[in-house]
Amino acid sequence: MGDTVAVWAVVVAAGSGERLGADVPKAFVRFGEDPLIAASVAALDEHPGIDGIVLVVPAGWEERATFMADDIGASKASIAVAGGATRSDSVALGVAEVPPDAVLILVHDAARPLVPSDLVDRLLAGFGDGADGVIPALFVSDTVKRIDAAGRVLETLDRSELRLVQTPQAFQADVLRRALAAPDRSTGTDCASLVERVGGTVIVVPGDARALKITTRADLARAEELRADAH
Ligand code: C5P
Repeated sequence: MGDTVAVWAVVVAAGSGERLGADVPKAFVRFGEDPLIAASVAALDEHPGIDGIVLVVPAGWEERATFMADDIGASKASIAVAGGATRSDSVALGVAEVPPDAVLILVHDAARPLVPSDLVDRLLAGFGDGADGVIPALFVSDTVKRIDAAGRVLETLDRSELRLVQTPQAFQADVLRRALAAPDRSTGTDCASLVERVGGTVIVVPGDARALKITTRADLARAEELRADAH
């Protein structure tokens, strides 16, 4: 599908990432030789199905973001804008920079540095059946309980019906723009939940354990190991 339609990616990186305990925003902590954000931007830039990339970074980091893209030769990543107070605000600010002729938009968290190329292939291939969104997901191997505020178990969920969702998440551009216009968008923890709220059909495709999200120093070390294994 990426061969015939305009596909853009929005990489959101405007969070502070306090749990990493660094003196720079999470997207700019070192990951190997480069800032963390560089890894996912490089992977998206190299994917032939993606035409352009918008970077959403903390206010004041826009210029550093475009320098970084230049440095790593990511020629599709020429636009960098400041993010907002919540992830959804940051996504909306990035999507506003995507040209109107884009048919599909991928939204990716810079906190997930490893973006396997075949994961993006699966997302783009998933639109065949008229889906509004295609998202990567993993099976749940632990047993999951729902609890109350006192920590008492209310129920044990059927894990065969549950999935852990990753990014990039891919959407029909018009549906994503509509979903982001909702006044309560800030309460959505991912873009798919906003598309679901406007009645969009979202399907899951297999995710990838390498696409883990960096929250702690240990996650960073684990992702560096996984990247080294892949080379
Ligand atoms: O906070 P959380 O881990 O859910 O953030 C997921 C992604 O959203 C991160 O890449 C982070 O930089 C981004 N984000 C953002 N703007 C915010 C909050 C988070 O771009 N206000």
